[in-house]
Order: sequence, then structure tokens, then C-alpha cells
Amino acid sequence: MKRNFLTTIGVVAMFVFTTVLFSCGGTTDTTEADSTKTEVKTEEATPETTTEEATLDLTAGKTVYDAKCSVCHGAEGAGIAGTFPPVAGADYLTKETAIAVALKGLEGENTINGETYSTPMAPVEMTDQEVVDVCNFVLNSFGNSLGTVTLEDVTKAKE
Ligand code: HEC
Repeated sequence: MKRNFLTTIGVVAMFVFTTVLFSCGGTTDTTEADSTKTEVKTEEATPETTTEEATLDLTAGKTVYDAKCSVCHGAEGAGIAGTFPPVAGADYLTKETAIAVALKGLEGENTINGETYSTPMAPVEMTDQEVVDVCNFVLNSFGNSLGTVTLEDVTKAKE
């Protein structure tokens, strides 16, 4: 994740450098106007990404996931079709279902991404903080971007 981010900065820096180089070389008015617009856009996008990464630390959640979930749902969240549902891009997964399943497990027949799952998932023993961490990890990893969970959300869900 960090390396990707650094690569992005590198690419953006190279892009800006090339753009400046080209505009100095005396291009037409239209090209200059266009490149200015693009520069503004990339500069706006960079601080946003930084803030997100700084406020949501997924390290603790990854540790819980690797220890208690990945054995069934897979290191990359892909699961095993028909037996263990994916958590990566799963149409069943929301902030609410993540908390509920992390707290109580899941049974009954459920259709997830078009496949039927009926092997029950037993509740996994975790502290409330571990539930928060693992939910945030699952909701914001493997291409998911499904929101964040707080300790308060978990306490409420237990009531
Ligand atoms: C022993 C295997 C096993 C383990 C360990 C396990 N799960 Fe599951 N999980 C399942 C199965 C099987 C289902 C589907 C149950 C059903 O639909 O009846 C499921 C369903 C889910 C779902 C809902 C469906 C989806 O894919 O969105 C979520 C979310 C989930 N698990 C998260 C977790 C998390 C987080 C952990 C670790 C704390 C975990 N699971 C550990 C087997 C497991």
C-alpha cells in the first residue's frame, strides 16, 4: 500500500516535471491550458489520500484477519466458492453485516455473489477492539471501500 502510494507520488512528480518541461518548450495556448488543469487535479488528489491513510490504520485488523479469518476466507479474501464466501467484493458485505458476523458468526443459507453457502460460520472469539479492527480491515481491504466501524458501533450491535 505504502509502496503504491510512493510510486504514485513518483509518477505524479515525473508527470508534473514533464509538463513543465513541455510548456517551457513553447507549446500552443490550448495545450498549456489543458496541462494546467491536469496539474491542479493531481495536486488535489494527493493530500486526500494521505489523510485517509493516516486516520485509518489497518495493521491491527490485518493481524486479527490473518490469525482468525484467512484460514477460511483466504489471505486475499477470495474464499472458496461454494464453501467459504469471499470477503473481497462480496455483495453481502456491509458495515452492519461485518459487525454482526464478526460478533455472532453466520448460519443458514446465504447467497453471496451468486453462490449459495450453507456451512455455518461459528462465532470467532475476539475482544470488542479486535472486532472493530478486523471489521475495518475487511471493509477497507481487497479493493473494498465500505466505511469504518467504531467501538461504539460494536457495543450497540451487542445490545
Ligand atoms: C472456519 C471457517 C471460517 C472462519 C475461521 C471465518 N469464517 Fe467467515 N464465514 C465462513 C462461512 C462458511 C460463511 C458463510 C456462512 C453461511 O452463509 O451460512 C462465512 C461468512 C462470513 C461473512 C459474510 C459473508 C461475506 O462473505 O460477506 C463475513 C463478513 C465473514 N464470514 C467474516 C469473517 C471474519 C471477519 C472472520 C474472522 C474474524 C471469519 N469470517 C472467520 C467461514 C469462516
